[in-house]
Amino acid sequence: MLTGAGVSAESGVPTFREAQTGLWEQYDPMDLATPEAFARDPELVWRWYRWRRDLVAGAEPNAGHRALAELQSLVPRLTLVTQNVDGMHQRAGSSDVIEFHGNLFSNRCSAEARIVNAADDDDGVPSCPDCGGYLRPGVVWFGEAIPEEALHASFAAAADCDVFLSVGTSSLVYPAAGLADVAREAGAVTIEVNPSPTSQSESYTASLRGNSGMVLPQLVESLAH
Ligand code: APR
Repeated sequence: MLTGAGVSAESGVPTFREAQTGLWEQYDPMDLATPEAFARDPELVWRWYRWRRDLVAGAEPNAGHRALAELQSLVPRLTLVTQNVDGMHQRAGSSDVIEFHGNLFSNRCSAEARIVNAADDDDGVPSCPDCGGYLRPGVVWFGEAIPEEALHASFAAAADCDVFLSVGTSSLVYPAAGLADVAREAGAVTIEVNPSPTSQSESYTASLRGNSGMVLPQLVESLAH
């Protein structure tokens, strides 16, 4: 299954294509979450990510996240691929989550391109304790490659599943948006959970129109009994 920003919307974490709030409403995420933005103004990018980290740290997983964690114990095999970087699925109890776009709370050395667990001071641009290069948030930015292991594991799971569940994603950003096609071609039943139609809705076996915090608990309840 694949989740997107919509599964965290009811936790108060804005989706990518909603207007940002407060100070950040003047910025388009597309102009902040890029290597070019970081090269141009690393301090601004870090301020945005610290704002997002604080927002997520102050939020709680919602009933949709919890339902997916319960679902994992009800079915023989479940591969949860998320485009979200907020770590909410893990906080709700899901395990072996594939973070397709990385994790908001990890830091990566921009020179050595590896995850560095360095303490992040509260302002400015943190430096790598090993090489002194800038640290950057451990997320995948627009124009960057998906981590090879996450990419391979996600497409392998999609090619080998009976049911593909897509929750809270606009299905606009590839390669994640291509997972449903791979599952469909492999003969899987495909189900979309989204209050609004998406660009792929017509291709799904079924579309469950509603908020994931409402639909997923009902779906799991029906499976559990
Ligand atoms: N329950 C389920 N879905 C919801 C809810 C909800 N309560 N609220 C909103 N949605 C849906 C919206 O209708 C929309 O289709 O969630 C989707 C959110 O779409 P996006 O904001 O485009 O987020 P996402 O699909 O995760 O974006 C994919 O693009 O911006 C990049 O890297 C970023 O991971 C992100 C990727």
